[in-house]
Order: sequence, then C-alpha cells, then structure tokens
Amino acid sequence: MLFTRIIFIITISLTIILPFGLGARADTNRATFPEDFDKFVRYATYDWGSSREEAFALPETIELSKSGKPLPPGTRLVLGIWKSDKLTSYFVMHKGIDWGLDVSEDKRTGDWRFQEFGLDKQVNRSAFAERCESCHQSQASNDYMFTIDRMREYLP
Ligand code: HEC
Repeated sequence: MLFTRIIFIITISLTIILPFGLGARADTNRATFPEDFDKFVRYATYDWGSSREEAFALPETIELSKSGKPLPPGTRLVLGIWKSDKLTSYFVMHKGIDWGLDVSEDKRTGDWRFQEFGLDKQVNRSAFAERCESCHQSQASNDYMFTIDRMREYLP
C-alpha cells in the first residue's frame, strides 16, 4: 500500500513539475550582446541594395576560424542590420557549453543560441529566435554559420 502511495505521489509531482521545468528551459535564450563589442572587427559586408548587413567578430575568433577548428564556447558573432542606410538592429549568435540541450533535437543549432537586439543592445522581445535557428540549421556542415568563408578569407 505504502509503495503504491509513493508511486502515486511521484507521478502527481512529475505531472505538475515537468511541464513547468521543461517550459522554462525551452524559453531560456542565453544569447547576450557582447560587452566588448568595441573590440569586434567587421570581417564582411553584404550589400543587398536597400538593405545591408555587416558581420563582426573578435580578432581571436577570426584567427581561430582560419585554423579550421570549431569556434569555442563563449564565441559571439554579431550581424549589424541596415535598412535604408540606417542601422536598425543587431543579430547575435552566441555559443555556450551544452546550450543546445535547452532546445529539442530537431530545432538545435549545435550549442549556438540566436537573439535580436535593438540599438540600445537590449533584447528585441518581438523577434522570434526560432526563425533564426531554423534558417541557420541549413548550415549545419559549417557550424551553422553562413559567413565562415568570408571570415576565413578576411585579412586585417
Ligand atoms: C532566411 C534565413 C535567415 C534567417 C531567418 C536568419 N539568418 Fe542569420 N544569416 C543568414 C545569411 C544568409 C547570413 C549571411 C549574410 C547574408 O548573406 O546576408 C546570415 C548571417 C548571420 C550572422 C553572421 C554569422 C554567420 O552565421 O555567418 C549572424 C550572427 C546571424 N545571421 C544571426 C541571425 C539571427 C540572430 C537571426 C534571427 C533574429 C537570423 N540570423 C535570422 C540567414 C538567415
């Protein structure tokens, strides 16, 4: 009897706790804007007529990319988004140890997380990181990056 009771209590607890626990994890976006953005170097510019994108990384990130090794946890990449000659927002990719485990396997982009920031460097809450991730998933063979060739070619 006692055993059945214990099992019952465990089952009830899990039913209550699990959805909250998993929900909170799924919502976690740990990508943050780099505090040392002034040290970042622009390694590529993409001109699309009325819009423009500028890709930035730390010099050590660019250096590492040339070695062909995967970029380490802690790496951040920033894409400045320009519309009609005005900088409008920053897209950030940020890699952390095991951050991919926050996300279900089909939505995972390695250990990278994506986030959009305003010019005030605060998170743009109306942007959906899932969209970023689903598009960058196509680049799985390039560590989810689109600009890796430009980064490797970049000469300071
Ligand atoms: C429809 C596809 C698509 C979506 C959605 C998308 N990206 Fe990208 N991203 C690209 C492409 C393509 C590039 C390379 C630059 C270019 O061609 O304009 C890029 C480049 C980048 C880079 C430069 C590093 C790299 O990957 O090479 C960052 C950082 C980035 N995107 C972050 C984001 C974030 C954050 C979001 C969501 C707010 C996002 N992207 C949404 C396609 C996409």
